[in-house]
Amino acid sequence: MLPEYPDRVRDILAQLNSPIALIGMMGAGKSRLAKSLAKTLYLPLIDLDSEIEQAAGLTIPEIFDRLGEPAFRDIEAKAMRHAVEEGRKTVIATGGGTLMNPEIAALTFARTLTMWVRAPLELMIERTSRNKDRPLLKDGDVEEKLKALMAVRYPVYEKATIIVDSHDGPASETLAQALGKLHDHLGGSTAD
Ligand code: S3P
Repeated sequence: MLPEYPDRVRDILAQLNSPIALIGMMGAGKSRLAKSLAKTLYLPLIDLDSEIEQAAGLTIPEIFDRLGEPAFRDIEAKAMRHAVEEGRKTVIATGGGTLMNPEIAALTFARTLTMWVRAPLELMIERTSRNKDRPLLKDGDVEEKLKALMAVRYPVYEKATIIVDSHDGPASETLAQALGKLHDHLGGSTAD
């Protein structure tokens, strides 16, 4: 992928001085974009859900089942605080609820470059219906649940510095959009 974006990548890396935090709803495509962004920018990837699973030695559904959501949120806050306070240039894929903790939201907005990965509701329904590893969507109507979460969460996500629209097209399109917006925001010198 790199040969397509050499100048853009060089400029972004020269200007970036914080982690990049991808925020947004379940099924919006945060993890997928974080992975390709980290690879393209040669930055370490921190996938918060994986960090939480490793810290707990349990899968996310197991944590919700056995320890409950408040315990999950504690582990999540600790993992995010650590990732942000480290201050390294990394790409952090947060979970959909990570920034619902006001202290974590304040820290993240102050100390990272935030990128809201925004997707149409239909796409989030389709993606989240494909697997059953999201305890918050386990029972009941997925569309209703996502809408209720969007109502509470969008006012927080909207504070992101960069917004990337995730569509059902090739992952490379979303990556190109993210790189373009990072480049514009960071005031890179070269257009390629
Ligand atoms: C959650 C989102 C999930 C995961 C957990 C709770 C949420 O992460 O952290 O199931 O509250 O929206 P993804 O957004 O990566 O699916």
